[in-house]
Amino acid sequence: MASALLPSLCVLTLFWLVEGTTSGYGKEGKFSGPLKPMTFSIFEGQEPSQIIFQFKANSPAVTFELTGETDGIFMIERDGLLYYTKALDRETRAVHHLQLAALNSQGAVVEGPVPIIIEVKDINDNRPMFLQTKYEGSVRQNSRPGKPFLYVNATDLDDPNTLNGQLSYQIALQLPTINNVMYFQIDNKTGGISLTREGSQELDPAKNPSYNLVISVKDMGGQSENSFSDTTSVDVTVRENIWKAPEPVEVTENSTDPHPIKITQVQWNDPGAQYSLLNKEKLPQFPFSIDQEGNIYVTQPLDREEKDSHVFYATAKDENGNSLARPLEIYVKVIDINDNPPTCPSEMTVFEVQENERVGNSIGVFTAHDMDEPNTYNSILKYRLSEQTPRVPSDGLFLIQEYEGRVQLGKQSLKKQDTPQYSLTIEVSDKDFKTLCSVQVNVIDINDQIPIFEVSDYGNLTLPEDTAIGSTILVIQATDADEPFTGSSKILYKVVQGDADGRLEVTTDPQTNAGYVKIIKSLDFETEPVTSIVFQAENPEPLVDNVVYNASSFASFKLIVTDVNEEPEFPLRIFQAKVSEDAAVGTKVGNVTARDPEGLAVRYSLSGDKRGWLKIDSVTGEIFSAAPLDRETESLYRVQVVATEIGGSSLSSRADFHLALTDVNDNPPRLAKEYTGLFFCHPLNGTRSLIFEATDDDQQSYWRPQFTFALGSESLRNDWEVSKINGTHARLSTKHTRFEERVYEIPILLNDGGRPPMEGIVSLSVTFCQCEEKSCFRPAGRFDGMPTVGMAVGILLTTFLVIGIILAVVFIRMKKDTGKDNVENPQSPEARPLRS
Ligand SMILES: *[C@@H]1O[C@H](CO)[C@@H](O)[C@H](O)[C@H]1NC(C)=O
Ligand SMILES: *[C@@H]1O[C@H](CO)[C@@H](O)[C@H](O)[C@H]1NC(C)=O
Ligand SMILES: *[C@@H]1O[C@H](CO)[C@@H](O)[C@H](O)[C@H]1NC(C)=O
Ligand SMILES: *[C@@H]1O[C@H](CO)[C@@H](O)[C@H](O)[C@H]1NC(C)=O
Ligand SMILES: *[C@@H]1O[C@H](CO)[C@@H](O)[C@H](O)[C@H]1NC(C)=O
Ligand SMILES: *[C@@H]1O[C@H](CO)[C@@H](O)[C@H](O)[C@H]1NC(C)=O
Ligand SMILES: *[C@@H]1O[C@H](CO)[C@@H](O)[C@H](O)[C@H]1NC(C)=O
Ligand SMILES: *[C@@H]1O[C@H](CO)[C@@H](O)[C@H](O)[C@H]1NC(C)=O
Repeated sequence: MASALLPSLCVLTLFWLVEGTTSGYGKEGKFSGPLKPMTFSIFEGQEPSQIIFQFKANSPAVTFELTGETDGIFMIERDGLLYYTKALDRETRAVHHLQLAALNSQGAVVEGPVPIIIEVKDINDNRPMFLQTKYEGSVRQNSRPGKPFLYVNATDLDDPNTLNGQLSYQIALQLPTINNVMYFQIDNKTGGISLTREGSQELDPAKNPSYNLVISVKDMGGQSENSFSDTTSVDVTVRENIWKAPEPVEVTENSTDPHPIKITQVQWNDPGAQYSLLNKEKLPQFPFSIDQEGNIYVTQPLDREEKDSHVFYATAKDENGNSLARPLEIYVKVIDINDNPPTCPSEMTVFEVQENERVGNSIGVFTAHDMDEPNTYNSILKYRLSEQTPRVPSDGLFLIQEYEGRVQLGKQSLKKQDTPQYSLTIEVSDKDFKTLCSVQVNVIDINDQIPIFEVSDYGNLTLPEDTAIGSTILVIQATDADEPFTGSSKILYKVVQGDADGRLEVTTDPQTNAGYVKIIKSLDFETEPVTSIVFQAENPEPLVDNVVYNASSFASFKLIVTDVNEEPEFPLRIFQAKVSEDAAVGTKVGNVTARDPEGLAVRYSLSGDKRGWLKIDSVTGEIFSAAPLDRETESLYRVQVVATEIGGSSLSSRADFHLALTDVNDNPPRLAKEYTGLFFCHPLNGTRSLIFEATDDDQQSYWRPQFTFALGSESLRNDWEVSKINGTHARLSTKHTRFEERVYEIPILLNDGGRPPMEGIVSLSVTFCQCEEKSCFRPAGRFDGMPTVGMAVGILLTTFLVIGIILAVVFIRMKKDTGKDNVENPQSPEARPLRS
């Protein structure tokens, strides 16, 4: 029977169904071999009656016997062909353990048994299935996104180690869905359902307390089109999140109630959370606590004046110390009570008032402080004047404005004679407290006294006229009865008469009011031998009405200056004069004068006249030229003049004399540079020209030179032409081409057109020569000027010429008989000297 099931093509089918053995792999091939342990893998659900392997019996074995977990499916033919008769099912038995033995003709085991293992490979023949058709769950508003609140669970009988058994979950539908926003997500592996970020932020039980989700599960890892799937329904209830920051708390400061006092509370959504407080402000003493019911307490009295509000955070953690949610902010405002009395601005406040101050005038503003909350009755202050000492001339001299604290003069002007000082007590009160503060009022003197000189005449003071500048010559003293060290008693001294030149200065000693009279400009016997000096003493502060400075505020002295012999004086330190450079010798070029303060006669002389151009009249001080002057040598001539007194101590003094020389046209024009090496190539094939420039040594800063140019010789008119280009440049041109090969000297007449005009003749040398590469090819011996390559060639030619002459002479001697008519001129034009 079985052998009828063996079509030869079945071997090919086996290719697809059986994967290679590992242990029984012999030389005989893949599908047949001797008896040995083998393992085969076969997909479940395949067509039955398939060949697995052909075992070969070795003598004496003739047949095989198969035992073990055959389940009636695995068979073996007598000739060793292993096959199965029913489709396998991995979910029934994943591995079949068989034993195969070889038997002899008597039926006795001669080989084996060996294990034959059949592994049933999975195919996706089972659908995933949810364990429940309906799930229910709930989630708190604002739950952390991604934290699962519910799991769905499906199973699949296929091999979980293959894709066939790998499940993937998905939310197929969320009802309701607004604007396509998914509030829920599912972990495709674990089936854990959690909120999305949007869900965490937007879900609100007040708006919509329940959602329905359709969850699908697919096998094949959800990847294949051929995967099986199942769905389930999930109802989700959204519950209110009670983990919320409480309202701001108000705590009254300085509470006398027993502490701790409960002020607010927080609560986690589920029981069992661990609460704690975060002191984010890092207070050294943190006056709050929380218990495990979430009640928050203040543990000690607060002080608003120290800190008027507190911010801290409450946290909830699970039993493992993991944060359950973000911390909540707790805000505590400290409410003021009037627990601070007003305080005085300082131990003693001092005001000053002038004697003549009018009634009602403000003396000052008294401001006390209160630490309690500003702009409440706890800190608004009222002032009252409670006492004045002494009560002279009467009580109630001062007033204070009730809320402003401004202190005013209440009754009459004060007098220092009555008392120089008052002590006031000011009562400052807030809602509950009163504080007494002290104010001192000083009565200040006014400027009603004038300075009075101790001496009205300081007598005669004799000084030599060369008394040093800065010397103190006199000390004067006035006194002032006003209050010391104020602007009413300080004294300023002024010289009001006898010092128009400002020779004197008076400085005041701030301690003693003494005046020190100093010289700040030199005295002069010659101008003012005797002077009456008058001082005035003044206060910097103006005097009060009805008081004026009188004669007692003035003092005088007589300053007598004695003569000292002094050197002559020039009125100027530098004398300046100007003269034309062509001034004739003996022309007066300037004069100086000096005066001797003592009136002695003065003698003049010169010093530093290094060119000997000048002389001076020793009596009159007139200065004359002593030689021809030249601006081009020295445009500003500097000498010194010396004045010496005749008699006395023959003192002398010096001054500078600067003589500026003005230009005259005393230089003829000339060529601006040396024009050497001018040449034209010979022979000329057209007219040629060159440009030259003229200049002049006279001063040219005021005008541009305007030279005129002309040929210097009438006879050259036919050969050359000079044409002006502008004031300084002209062109020299040839008029024809028939020039000899030599040097031409062309005289040029230059005129500067000045006043008087100056004229000069200059000469331009122009060479006509044979050219080579645009330079002159010049035979030797022609010029004593520039040595050139042409010159060297010339020397060479001359040498040849001399040899030629010698040869010629020899030749002539040899041809004596033939006659002398044939002799050549030995001197060629090239060798002829050209200089004329
Ligand atoms: C799903 O169900 C299976 C079978 O009951 C169980 O072994 C597995 O632990 C469950 N998985 C989850 C995530 O509950
Ligand atoms: C499952 O989720 C992971 C990330 O969570 C993703 O990378 C993977 O592609 C998902 N698989 C399927 C089949 O959607
Ligand atoms: C509390 O108030 C009392 C008077 O009511 C006061 O004496 C005390 O200084 C206050 N304490 C603080 C801290 O302000
Ligand atoms: C001061 O000098 C004047 C003349 O300049 C003279 O009349 C007078 O007597 C002198 N006074 C005294 C005190 O020497
Ligand atoms: C100037 O006035 C004072 C008082 O102000 C008085 O003592 C003094 O005699 C007066 N002097 C003269 C010169 O009138
Ligand atoms: C030169 O002398 C004249 C009179 O001769 C006079 O007016 C002039 O001031 C003198 N100049 C100087 C610098 O002394
Ligand atoms: C003259 O000779 C120069 C070279 O020496 C040449 O460049 C020029 O063309 C010539 N001019 C005329 C008019 O032949
Ligand atoms: C005069 O002419 C020459 C040559 O053309 C030129 O170089 C120069 O600048 C000119 N001078 C003035 C003042 O124009």
